[in-house]
Amino acid sequence: MHRGVIIGTGSCLPERVLTNSDLEKMVDTSDEWITTRTGSKQRYIAGKGEETSKIAAQAARRALAMADVSPEEIGLIVVGTISSEMSMPSCACLVQKEIGANNAFAYDLNAACAGFTYCLDLADKYVRSNPELTVLVIGAETLSARTNWKDRNTCVLFGDGAGACVVSADNAGRGLLGSYLRSDGRYWDLLHMDAAPSMNPDINASHSEASFILMNGRDVFKHAVRAMTDAVDNVMTSVGVTSEQIDLVIPHQANIRILNSLIERLNLGREKFYINIENYGNTSAASIPIAIDEANRQGVLKRGDVLLLCTFGAGLAWGAALIKW
Ligand code: UT7
Repeated sequence: MHRGVIIGTGSCLPERVLTNSDLEKMVDTSDEWITTRTGSKQRYIAGKGEETSKIAAQAARRALAMADVSPEEIGLIVVGTISSEMSMPSCACLVQKEIGANNAFAYDLNAACAGFTYCLDLADKYVRSNPELTVLVIGAETLSARTNWKDRNTCVLFGDGAGACVVSADNAGRGLLGSYLRSDGRYWDLLHMDAAPSMNPDINASHSEASFILMNGRDVFKHAVRAMTDAVDNVMTSVGVTSEQIDLVIPHQANIRILNSLIERLNLGREKFYINIENYGNTSAASIPIAIDEANRQGVLKRGDVLLLCTFGAGLAWGAALIKW
């Protein structure tokens, strides 16, 4: 049986770093509040020339280099994003142009913070039905352009960045073992954004309060912990993997307190959780592929390891996936 296996990873962060002490000068907040409530000490903020498609393309180039795959060999590009610089064409088509993946078809997928895991599930299904296909799976966001920098409730939470994986078919037991994806649109208003993203400064200048990210943090928190715990239980049961067999957990880096609650409930062992929110904030769909790339390049992820992903975001949309690395 063929499965989608990750053969190369890459990531890209914008140049500018925004620290908690920088935020202290912008809104009524403190390093102490941000650190204890979110776990973040700093985040990266995109500037000109670092639009979502540009950082996505750079992450893709790094993943392709690691996989030793040329852009022309890519058959599909799928980008999980809610902050592309244009409403159309898709971010994926802009990435295609940037890297010269001229033999691919390309499109975006909107599952907010859960976007990368949804995209990975999709890539796996494509390569299972067509093992010749090589897929570029990307999570990329520049939520800084969608953030109300006067709202201390949200502006301390998010960061920009991109991560990419090259996925191809493997029939020797490695790859995506299974996934469990869910959404519940009844709770759409807990976390939403009305604005159409744009790289046009005139359009961005017309931002009204309603066009930024709006969130009911407390309710999102409760749903996130419950939903991710349930998704992990489901995927472990359906694949038939026990707690002891899981080597590494890469959760969506939403918030340290959400992660701490998840760690407690899942009982898989704190040491198995890969957490890097301190450096990046919540980068939405980019958080998992950035962490995968980091863990991969640091040698934390080793061939044959069983990797668990779990994610949660606006939609509400959430899920979990198990991968044999
Ligand atoms: O990918 C999923 C994305 N979403 C999330 O990860 C968010 C999930 N939610 C959370 O993690 C938390 O709800 C937050 C971190 C967003 C907020 O933490 P909280 O403990 O739920 O705070 P709160 O909203 O209940 O506010 C508590 C207090 C309030 O002051 P009063 O009313 O008690 O006087 C807020 O005004 O903290 C105040 N506050 C701040 N104080 C300093 C809110 N933001 C800040 C801030 N600095 N940045």
